[in-house]
Amino acid sequence: MQQADQPLAVLPGDNLTVALQTMRLIIERGLKAREIFIDCGLDARMLLLHHMQLSHAELIAAPTHPLTERDADALTELATLRGAGVPVARLVGEAEFWSLPFYLSDDTLVPRPDSELIVEAALSRIGDGATRILDVGTGTGCLPLAILSERPRSTALGVDISQGALTVAERNARRLDVASRFSTCLSDVYDGIPKTDVFDVILSNPPYIMSNVIDGLDTEVRDHDPLVALDGGSDGLDVYRPLIARAALFLLPGGYLIVEIGYDQSSSVSALMREAGFKPELLHDLAGHPRVLIGHKSEPN
Ligand SMILES: C[S@@+](CC[C@H](N)C(=O)[O-])C[C@H]1O[C@@H](n2cnc3c(N)ncnc32)[C@H](O)[C@@H]1O
Repeated sequence: MQQADQPLAVLPGDNLTVALQTMRLIIERGLKAREIFIDCGLDARMLLLHHMQLSHAELIAAPTHPLTERDADALTELATLRGAGVPVARLVGEAEFWSLPFYLSDDTLVPRPDSELIVEAALSRIGDGATRILDVGTGTGCLPLAILSERPRSTALGVDISQGALTVAERNARRLDVASRFSTCLSDVYDGIPKTDVFDVILSNPPYIMSNVIDGLDTEVRDHDPLVALDGGSDGLDVYRPLIARAALFLLPGGYLIVEIGYDQSSSVSALMREAGFKPELLHDLAGHPRVLIGHKSEPN
């Protein structure tokens, strides 16, 4: 029996149920010391399943399985890191988006559920045809790869200023079996894309946080997501400016520009869209915050 004031640890010989309870306590104790009070049962379960390479069903079927010393130490370590504020996605090296698994690396943002609104917006505007999609700042590739998984005749180009992110996006495309329809290009916004390339849809979830706000972000974001994926410059609009100003050059007539925005950026980004000749349409996320702006390139009469 471990005492409340002793350092907690998963012990060799513990079964999976006991290990899960101990991990939960380790995480909760760590987060509580950082004044975070949340139920950590799900985090503990995800870390245990990942390390033991088990499915939920296998965990339920094998709770008496005794742990080796090596597994016990590894589980203690994972729970301790989670308690110190390392996000679960970083510890397991992947995250779910659009119900699909995406590998991560230090070069990629953890995909956020809010960004699924971009995927929904794109899917509701494209048919089943051979749509060509461009994603600017593709990171893990989560946006175009989710769309390719739903539209078997579509193709996509993912561009990013980070070669490390592109390597992860290509790996994700292979994992999701859509690599033959996905290509990548190292590019500062459109600079690396041949001028003759045109698309039906341009997507982007660019870095949009103002530089002077980064220090005050939640440490799970600030210390674990890459700065280049967060920092949008002094007013948060550094990437939106070229992205929106030059979008029409890379869009086919009738095409769409679909961008994620910060909760307080609908006026500033709408203004950039109007300046570029788009009439912006605003979508809200489930919390009711402005989240996505859509510009439609009109067809010639
Ligand atoms: C907020 S993250 C979005 C990643 C991914 N699309 C998602 O939704 O999870 C922004 C991405 O833009 C990339 N990026 C930043 N500045 C860029 C630029 N000037 N040109 C192209 N990509 C850029 C970053 O490397 C990062 O992968």
